[in-house]
Amino acid sequence: MRHLLEPTNLSVKEIDQIMERALDIIAHREKYAEACKGKKLATLFFEPSTRTRLSFTAAMMELGGNVLGFSDANSSSVSKGETIADTIRVISCFADIVAMRHPKEGAPWIAKNYSGVPVINAGDGGHNHPTQTLTDMLTIKRELGHFDHLTIGLCGDLKYGRTVHSLIKAMSRYEGTRYVLISPKELQLPSYMTEEMKRDGIPFKEVGSIEEAMPELDVLYMTRVQQERFADKAEYERLKLAFILDEAKMKYGKKDMIVLHPLPRVGEITEGVDNDPRAAYFRQVENGKFVRMSLILTLLDWRDQKDNIIDPEEIQMEGATCKNPHCITTKEAVRQRFYVDEKGVKRCMYCDNEV
Ligand code: NCD
Repeated sequence: MRHLLEPTNLSVKEIDQIMERALDIIAHREKYAEACKGKKLATLFFEPSTRTRLSFTAAMMELGGNVLGFSDANSSSVSKGETIADTIRVISCFADIVAMRHPKEGAPWIAKNYSGVPVINAGDGGHNHPTQTLTDMLTIKRELGHFDHLTIGLCGDLKYGRTVHSLIKAMSRYEGTRYVLISPKELQLPSYMTEEMKRDGIPFKEVGSIEEAMPELDVLYMTRVQQERFADKAEYERLKLAFILDEAKMKYGKKDMIVLHPLPRVGEITEGVDNDPRAAYFRQVENGKFVRMSLILTLLDWRDQKDNIIDPEEIQMEGATCKNPHCITTKEAVRQRFYVDEKGVKRCMYCDNEV
């Protein structure tokens, strides 16, 4: 069966199909009211979430299906020391499809190897968040009408912001995409991302302020500084409000640009911006439900297709371990696995960090 762990698991054509189906759902809600009758979605949330979990729940309910699962690792057998592999083996016996969020990077790649049903990554540490990307894309589609030739500003925590990583992976496949990066030096994009962008010839530049970026942007993607990923809380306090979007800065933007934010916001967009018609972040939330409805239906349709997630070729590194403290290998006794990227850099197979 097929899974969705990162956006590139879907081809551009498949993303188009998911978008079209989401638009059809929006136009004909009643047609889908029983589309998942008798089906069960398991939401396995090892990390707190309101929006994403409830969005999946609402999506399955609107399709006439049922939802089971947990919203906190402490209320599951994980607190007794159960492995992800065992948890997913068990859940596969109860549900038709799984949405999983985990604080450790790479966790869903383990899950999919043991799952008897499609696995959707609902966020793994600071790594990926493909359903937020589908949400962002449906919003871009509805607000701007196309994915080509867009200049996208990414602002805030580009290091730990998994939504940013997934959005770049997805949007870089369209003609003429350019990025403007706005972040404190300490929260710049991880090197595996910038290396990939350079390799693929994706234009990006870094600027020091929102005002400077604003005039050329079609999309401004604001993000929260990810407090929970910081080992040093003082560092978080120092960086948390490095960039704030307010009404004055909106004046520098084009008339038809849009502002997106995966939410929750914690001060990086002032409430004064909410009344600006270009502020699309609350419309974005509703799009998240529609696109998840579309995705659930699509993955259930694809149950008989072969898994298309191909791991890069593994290399042997006797005794080496991944040093990323957020990697799933630091939590579970899984075999360490590595690969070499195009630049010759050795990386962890689960979290993609340099070894
Ligand atoms: C994002 C996430 O969980 O990564 N939120 C979400 O999915 N709605 C962004 C965030 O938490 O900052």
